[in-house]
Amino acid sequence: MGKKVVAVDGPAASGKSAVCRMAAERLGWAHFSSGLFYRLVAWLVLREMEKEGESWEKVVSALKEGEAERVEITVDLNKILEMMEEVQLHKEGVELLPKWRGEVIGELELHRVEVSKLTPVFAKIPWLRQEITELIRRKVPDRCFIDGRDVGTNIFPDACLKLFLTASAEERARRRAKQIGEDYKKILEEIKRRDELDQKRAVDPLKPAEDAQVIDTTNMGIDEVVQEVVELVEKKCIR
Ligand code: DC
Repeated sequence: MGKKVVAVDGPAASGKSAVCRMAAERLGWAHFSSGLFYRLVAWLVLREMEKEGESWEKVVSALKEGEAERVEITVDLNKILEMMEEVQLHKEGVELLPKWRGEVIGELELHRVEVSKLTPVFAKIPWLRQEITELIRRKVPDRCFIDGRDVGTNIFPDACLKLFLTASAEERARRRAKQIGEDYKKILEEIKRRDELDQKRAVDPLKPAEDAQVIDTTNMGIDEVVQEVVELVEKKCIR
């Protein structure tokens, strides 16, 4: 029998990670945020470019000027993929974090602003997505919540449960603004921009799997969402 996984997809800032972590804690399962592998690709690229004398800021400002292709050309992505093969998943509490050459590359590092800006450049390359998908399939353990954009539609089409967490853009912006103390309007604009990028992407666009259960959390508290998720997992994945 294959690995038992719960696929949790949904737009940016829909609370996927927090819900997965809390549900995993309740059930004694693990949680892996699949975006971390896409972020790790960007992180490794930035490191390689740094070795070639390019600063992270310079790479990202080139992006702002619409020269993203330049980034793809100067780094050999096959070499990056070979590096990705070495990645192991390290468990901290319920969280699975990438460990590369003996070093845990943590959430803070992988959420650095330069990494966040560069990641979508790689997340839209079809052959790279295929490779990352295979890596994720191989590396995640049994009994794992996996959140992302295409987990139920592509990475684990036979997940024991598929969820699609969503909330209005305004509510997601309100939650994120409260969490990080930034300007609501700025965040709302950024969220709308990311929604559009994720939904209109030619490869693996963000959409609920046909057999996914959609949970609109706009008017729900997080404990309520977690309770619903735990009950669904108990019903569908644990007997
Ligand atoms: O969830 P996140 O913000 O950490 O995702 C980082 C990037 O990776 C974002 O551009 C969406 C992309 N991603 C993806 O294309 N497919 C996934 N399964 C997970 C993330």
